[in-house]
Amino acid sequence: MSTEGSRAPAPLRVVVAGAGIAGLYAAALAARRPATAVTLVAKGALEDSNTWHAQGGITAVTAQGRAAGDSAAAHAADTLRAGAGPNDDAAVRLLCTEAGRQIDTLAAWGVPFDRAADGYALGLEGAHSAARILHIGGDRTGAGIAQALIRTVRDLAAAGDLDLREHTAVRSLLRSGGHITGAVLETAGGEPAELRADVIVLATGGAGQLFEATTNPAGATGDGVALAWEAGAVLADLEFVQFHPTLLDPAAAGGRSFMISEAVRGEGALLVDAAGRRFMPGVHPDAELAPRDVVSRAICSRRRELAQQGLQPAVYLDATAVAAERGDGFLARRFPMIDATVRSLGFDWTREPLPVMPASHYWMGGVRTDLHARTSVPGLFAIGEVACTGAHGANRLASNSLLEGLVFGRRAVEASGRYRTAPSFDARPLAFEDGTGTCTRADIQSQVSASAGVVRDGAGLELAAKQLAEWTAPGDSPDACASLLPVARLLVAAAAARRNSVGAHYRTDFEQAPAGRERLSFVKEQEQP
Ligand code: SIN
Repeated sequence: MSTEGSRAPAPLRVVVAGAGIAGLYAAALAARRPATAVTLVAKGALEDSNTWHAQGGITAVTAQGRAAGDSAAAHAADTLRAGAGPNDDAAVRLLCTEAGRQIDTLAAWGVPFDRAADGYALGLEGAHSAARILHIGGDRTGAGIAQALIRTVRDLAAAGDLDLREHTAVRSLLRSGGHITGAVLETAGGEPAELRADVIVLATGGAGQLFEATTNPAGATGDGVALAWEAGAVLADLEFVQFHPTLLDPAAAGGRSFMISEAVRGEGALLVDAAGRRFMPGVHPDAELAPRDVVSRAICSRRRELAQQGLQPAVYLDATAVAAERGDGFLARRFPMIDATVRSLGFDWTREPLPVMPASHYWMGGVRTDLHARTSVPGLFAIGEVACTGAHGANRLASNSLLEGLVFGRRAVEASGRYRTAPSFDARPLAFEDGTGTCTRADIQSQVSASAGVVRDGAGLELAAKQLAEWTAPGDSPDACASLLPVARLLVAAAAARRNSVGAHYRTDFEQAPAGRERLSFVKEQEQP
């Protein structure tokens, strides 16, 4: 048969937005597929992601690193227990059973996981029943993975297999007949321009910047959630924000925000008050290694009690006994980055406890997806923190987020050919009025921190909703927080709508209401023609 005149089919046009672990991995996998044209768009440089800062590690039970008796099933059971009810069971199963395959891929791409004599070195973190956290360079896990993925992506770009656009923001998503058709991109200093696409994969990360105290970098402003909301995608579990228990208190650290990994508690560090008294044993049988929501609430409540007694309302992470027991140099060897940073900020943590406080860390909620990372909008996929797969429930198990970015990043790529169909999810329609007042990032942070922090109540949420409604989304400015206002409204509305306490969502006015497994989903109300 003659092929004269026949044309090769048009390639599948895939745009990946975001360059954390999920976006880099998905872009690299997609660029290796036949008949696929991949563009990777990053708001800053590739090195600017939240992934880069991840310390603790990545959870995986693998053939090359498995504690005695541990299994993917045990990892899944811990994930469900920490998640406190509203997890999607199938997503949890996938997350845990697919872990080994992703670790093998990363290792093959040059990720240098730390090793012990008998395989990968394994760490322990809160709410895990076994040591199963892989790490790189002790506490530089995120940077170790990101460096290898960035190298892979830059090689693909240099070979012409991937179009890489750094310092480029996605301003809006384009649709026709409900389907994704492309995006409007804006490169720093340039004019907005349209890029056509069959598939857009949102991998834009979370919105830690909604809060005054956060472990997240300045770019974590919820951009993907705002874009998906405008495009009519269903969002879910928005009320579930995880607070990491141990941000080094910025007030004692010259204003610097620096997280102290949970792996430090995994090695035996304790939480104490100014008098050196532990308080976690009275709160949970796992004490300092209880799930994060429990530890964060306990720290807030201890600080409140101390203030009521007229004492200094401070809580500390005490690693001095670990330093003494494990010998000279242990902390510096196991946690070289934390050691160097706290010392540069004036703390000798082998001799003195570190002042710590909870801070926003991870958003379990986001753009609702099915098990193939498809959102409710045909052609729109979401992976990593911007997505809500349901794997984390109401409280993410430590070190499950890098893993989720990999597992569902791969599934998005594998499902990308099926972009014309989308799942449907039940969702409540929701609309917000824009006000006329101007606001800054700090204004939004102050409202959200006061109302939707570790401890919430209906009156505070109502007050914040009213204030947020009086503002209009700031345009493009050095403050760059146009996404934060709609995303703040969504978070506050979801927290007000959930009238019980479950996982990281704790309402003093509904402390005892039965939690259940219900998940709240919202979709933008359609304007009447
Ligand atoms: C940490 O190292 O404590 C953070 C790890 C995570 O959030 O999963």
